[in-house]
Amino acid sequence: MANEQSIDQFRSQPRLPRFAAPKRYEIFLKPDLIACKFAGSVRITIDVASATRFFVLNAADLVIDNDSISFTSQSSPKEFRPSEIAVVEKDDILVLRFDEVLPLGEGVLGIRFDGTLNDQMKGFYRSVYEHNGEKKNMAVTQFEPTDARRCFPCWDEPAFKSTFKITLEVPSELVALSNMPVVEEKRDGIVKTFIFQESPIMSTYLVAVVVGLFDYVEAISPDGIKIRVYCQVGKANQGKFALDVAVKTLDIYKTYFAVPYSLPKLDMVAIPDFAAGAMENYGLVTYRETALLYDDRHSAAANKQRVAIVVAHELAHQWFGNLVTMEWWTHLWLNEGFATWVSYLAADSLFPEWKIWTQFLDDYTTGLRLDALAESHPIEVDINHASEIDEIFDAISYRKGASIIRMLQNYLGAACFQRSLASYIKRFACSNAKTEDLWTVLEEESGEPVKTLMDSWTKQKGYPVVHVNVRERVLEFEQSQFLSSGSTGDGQWIVPVTLCCGSYSSQKKFLLSAKHEKLDLTEFINSSNADSNLVGTGNQQSGRHFWIKCNVDQTGFYRVKYNDELAAGLRHAIESKQLSAMDRFGILDDAYSLCMAGKQTLSSLLSLMAAYREEVDYTVLSLVITISRKIVNVAADAVPELLNDIKQFFINLLQFPAERLGWDSKEGEGHLDMMLRGELLVALAELGHDVTQHEALRCFGVYLDDRNTSLLPPDTRKAAYVAVMQAVNSMDKSGYENLLKVYRETDLSQEKTRILSSLASCLDPEVVRDVLNFLLSPEVRNQDAIFGLAGVSREGRDVAWTWLKDNWEHIKKTWGSGYLVGRFVTYIVSPFCSDEKAKEAEEFFATRSTPSIVRTLKQSIERVGINTKWVQSIRKEGPLGEVVKELAYRKY
Ligand code: BES
Ligand code: ZN
Repeated sequence: MANEQSIDQFRSQPRLPRFAAPKRYEIFLKPDLIACKFAGSVRITIDVASATRFFVLNAADLVIDNDSISFTSQSSPKEFRPSEIAVVEKDDILVLRFDEVLPLGEGVLGIRFDGTLNDQMKGFYRSVYEHNGEKKNMAVTQFEPTDARRCFPCWDEPAFKSTFKITLEVPSELVALSNMPVVEEKRDGIVKTFIFQESPIMSTYLVAVVVGLFDYVEAISPDGIKIRVYCQVGKANQGKFALDVAVKTLDIYKTYFAVPYSLPKLDMVAIPDFAAGAMENYGLVTYRETALLYDDRHSAAANKQRVAIVVAHELAHQWFGNLVTMEWWTHLWLNEGFATWVSYLAADSLFPEWKIWTQFLDDYTTGLRLDALAESHPIEVDINHASEIDEIFDAISYRKGASIIRMLQNYLGAACFQRSLASYIKRFACSNAKTEDLWTVLEEESGEPVKTLMDSWTKQKGYPVVHVNVRERVLEFEQSQFLSSGSTGDGQWIVPVTLCCGSYSSQKKFLLSAKHEKLDLTEFINSSNADSNLVGTGNQQSGRHFWIKCNVDQTGFYRVKYNDELAAGLRHAIESKQLSAMDRFGILDDAYSLCMAGKQTLSSLLSLMAAYREEVDYTVLSLVITISRKIVNVAADAVPELLNDIKQFFINLLQFPAERLGWDSKEGEGHLDMMLRGELLVALAELGHDVTQHEALRCFGVYLDDRNTSLLPPDTRKAAYVAVMQAVNSMDKSGYENLLKVYRETDLSQEKTRILSSLASCLDPEVVRDVLNFLLSPEVRNQDAIFGLAGVSREGRDVAWTWLKDNWEHIKKTWGSGYLVGRFVTYIVSPFCSDEKAKEAEEFFATRSTPSIVRTLKQSIERVGINTKWVQSIRKEGPLGEVVKELAYRKY
């Protein structure tokens, strides 16, 4: 018996001791929506597995009624009361010490407590909405990762799965929802008691409760599951799209995982104040309004796609996460990486015209960018304290996670992969799994060494750049760790390399596990009927060009650096339209990243970009735009004298697709064209293209008088707003005021978000400061402030930094308890391009950092260093001026 000693032995432990584990919770909650408080009680059925005098469980911000605590065991007639009750605030634990050793086996622990409905968007919190012109509170839970303990005392770790029987007492005019359907409803005057059916076994972070006024739309799935979308009173129509997606998606997953949805009902609720985008609570999924509601007239195509993806993601968790749960947060990526990957699978089957797998490359590259930092982390990351968990809901867990799944699926084949997943879900249903459990199942099904292969991707951070060289029909490969700083890391991977030569008709695959590898192409070239004479001879003068594309369709999580000859061949293949959109994306993105790391000149990147002048694909053009923005940002510091020419080049480049689309939407035009038009016009407005700016201002003028004008549909609105803000200065703020008017008048959150994300694009620093202050005003919900920050113009950067420092205490107080505070740092700090700013940031945060921003802060500062180096290397590039001039004034 190791636990004779004092309660100190339980301090500072990463996980709760396992000598007692909960089996069943009976929870009673009574929220007071006016006083913003709640009263509650739990009766937890516990299995005492080894002799102990202690119970150690989680609780935080709760006032525990000490006299109410008692334990009754099945094997003893006696009621046990703790002799010592200790709350260890630092570790969010409640330790109960009993004078005698507790009997083994089952017993029930009862505790009464009180709490506050906080305004931190976590635990049991309040969200504010308007009803008939009156402000009202609703009570909502958000428990992931570790905030169930703020609502009731519990074993708040994913591996302690239990059943939950929940009872709510609420004012009788309100709707009360929880994970399971209501089995009994009792009305007693002005209060109503809802008793919910007991849940199947699940983790605490998935328990949920929502109490408020709602309308809903409903559908019954073919299996008889009742699916509802709840939203603000009067907005039920806006729930129809998500409802339809949900009905179809449940069916897709049922087939894919070969297990039906496991609960009798599924509710999805729009919550006005919500920290994340959505949360997959078992049977009661909660969303930000922007991620659930779709309005036919005022939502953009991008909003529609977001709703579909978010719904598909959260429903994927009902299997991957809720039915089979990660054993510990180290395996968070099993939840998030998979849900992300599977959501694309579902979206692709529902909306093939969205080419969603091409769009996935946007996620993929976000993962690659973050993982090119020395301050990245492995997918499987050690978690030693609850406060470290928030930070890992990042692009590594989600996007790198999803990308390596796609890589593995591609390597093993879709059919084998699906069979394995279905068998994994079946084997671990109602239980917990670790990363290696998944590899074991995949290994059994495929006969491939999955664990060795995948360990190299999940247990070490980073990824390789594969250098490809061709010499007399022999390809030479060499891998080394890619870092944006230009340094070379010492990681090594097992890289599934794929390549195509001159056509997509056949593909070559092999695993590059050593540092170097050679591949004789002779046979492959003969079989893919390519023109072998041109390979590796250095001679491409004949007018016929040969290309070799590695990492076909970017299924591998790595970058490729080609030698000059191969790069020239690919460039020509892009111009002559021989490559897939995914490959065009990959070539450009790799070139851009290599350029930033100082491995390739800006001149050569710009010349490559010119090969995209007839590009039509949405995702590829979106990347062209992103890269243009970054180049403008860095060029303004590095070569200000060339800035206008560089901008002119980008305007020329974007004008071809922009002219094809025009401002007006066409009858029956595709989803991707609608999204593309919006992005192109925003980019042209930012680049100062005068025709675009004029047209934008004209349309905005009409829109101000008539919000239903067809001149400014939702897809082009952001472009108009950006143009309006570009024309605003401290002498004439009328455009800003007009936008605020639209902001105040709309009750659609997507429209509000669109406006917020445009405001800080103003070129006048004074105005940017006004905008930033507006973000902190009561008119902007805490959940939305970050959208404003994401749009800060280069000209506004310095005031934004000063503003961040001046308001840091307030920001930390308001957002510091969640993962949003990290965004303030990233958005404002990382665009800087000088050592001086990096130093300022380091000094400022030296005394102000918190566990939940440590890594984010280091990453932001590292990014400043990378930008700085990039600026220096651009300055040294002699012939850049000539290249830029030639490109800017070239007639196409
Ligand atoms: N489980 C997360 C929600 C979450 C995020 C909880 C961070 C706690 C901290 C949910 O499944 C999720 O991933 N939501 C995403 C949307 C998704 C489409 C990527 C989000 O909130 O952005
Ligand atoms: Zn998720």
